[in-house]
Formats: sequence, C-alpha cells, structure tokens
Amino acid sequence: MVPSNKVIAIDGPAASGKSSVATRVSKKTGFLHVNSGLMYRALTWSALRADIDTNNESKVIDHLNSIEMECIKSNDSLLLHINGNDPGEELKSEEVNRSVSVVAAIKEVRSELVKRQREYLLVSDIVMEGRDIGSVVFPETPFKFYIDASPEVRALRRRGEGGVDDLIERDKLDSSRKVSPLVIPEDAFVIDTSEMNLDEVVEKVLSELNQKGLIT
Ligand code: DC
Repeated sequence: MVPSNKVIAIDGPAASGKSSVATRVSKKTGFLHVNSGLMYRALTWSALRADIDTNNESKVIDHLNSIEMECIKSNDSLLLHINGNDPGEELKSEEVNRSVSVVAAIKEVRSELVKRQREYLLVSDIVMEGRDIGSVVFPETPFKFYIDASPEVRALRRRGEGGVDDLIERDKLDSSRKVSPLVIPEDAFVIDTSEMNLDEVVEKVLSELNQKGLIT
C-alpha cells in the first residue's frame, strides 16, 4: 500500500444508497470511486453467459481465472469490461441479482477480487463501496461508513430504480456467509438513512470527514 493514499470505505446492505453516496463523496473529494460489488456482478454475469452453474464453485473459480476483467476509468469512476465486452446495465439484471450472492460467497473468488481491490490504492486515493471494505479489504482506514436503511425503504428505492431484486434473500446470504460476511465494522460511522434524503446523508459523511481532518 502506498502509505500516502487514502481510502474512504462505505459498506452497507443492498439498495441502502451506498452508490449514490459514494458517487457524491468521490466528486467532493476527487478520490476515485470504486464499486466493488460490480466486480462480483461482472464475474456472475460472465459465468451465466458461459452457461456455468453458479453453484458449482470450482467451475466459477476456473472461469474467473480464464477471463480478462479490465477496469476502465470513466470520469471519476470505473467501468468493468469482460474479455473486451461491456456488460453495461446487464450487471444489474434480475438474473445477476439472483446469483451474485452465491458467487460472492466463494472463498477463492473473494481472495482474488479483494487482492485486485487493494491494488487500486497503489494508483489513487479511493472511495470504495461494498460489504467488507471497512472490515476486511481496508481494515486500517480511519474513514469508515456503514450506510443502512430499513428493508421497506430499501425495497422502495430499488423499485424506484426499476430493478427486480430479492433484497431480503440477498442480505441473508451476504450476512450469513462464512467468508467476510456483511458486518458493521466496530469503528464505522453508522448512518440510518431511512428518513433522510441524499443531500442530508452526504452532508453527514462530509462533516465526519471534515472532523477527522480529511477534508476542509
Ligand atoms: O453492492 P451490490 O449490491 O451491487 O453488490 C452485489 C453483490 O456482491 C452483493 O449481494 C454481495 C456482493 N459483494 C460482496 O460480497 N462484497 C463486496 N465488497 C461487494 C459486493
């Protein structure tokens, strides 16, 4: 790790608003926005396209080792291309939503993708969102946030985006898996956004970053 580069870790359950918050925080700080969930989604998308049974761990691991996952910088965030193809909005399809938590529970998949996630810090300051960023990927960062909202509010937000997503099932799998489950890091700043709008949440995050001396 380049000691001078900094990480803002933003974790939380599905549809809690992490991406919107991370996007705004990245704009404000100039830090590169990395959505780690997209990496798990891209692998799932690619495996499904290759007709791989996502419950077959060794096939999924072999697939990960056989594809080229390329990160392309677009504005202040990253797009993922698989073997030169841009999955675009398909990363958020119902099929990917249904299988991504099973793929993300595979130990070898996690160790490889976490390794790649850590490499971003070699090139830039980053705002990284996910499930285990503050607990496992960058436990040493002092800038950790856990963004939450009630299941009802999260379901409403996802429906508002037009997505079909069994959030309760995905949360259950993400929180109960053996390797790096979704947890609230002990030293995270927790924000329940159920009754807040995006501006208010971003304001709270920025004010905490200001108090910690990261921004002025
Ligand atoms: O943030 P998201 O909903 O797009 O993430 C998709 C899935 O990827 C999520 O259900 C769990 C998994 N994930 C993970 O296990 N660890 C991360 N750091 C990010 C996402």
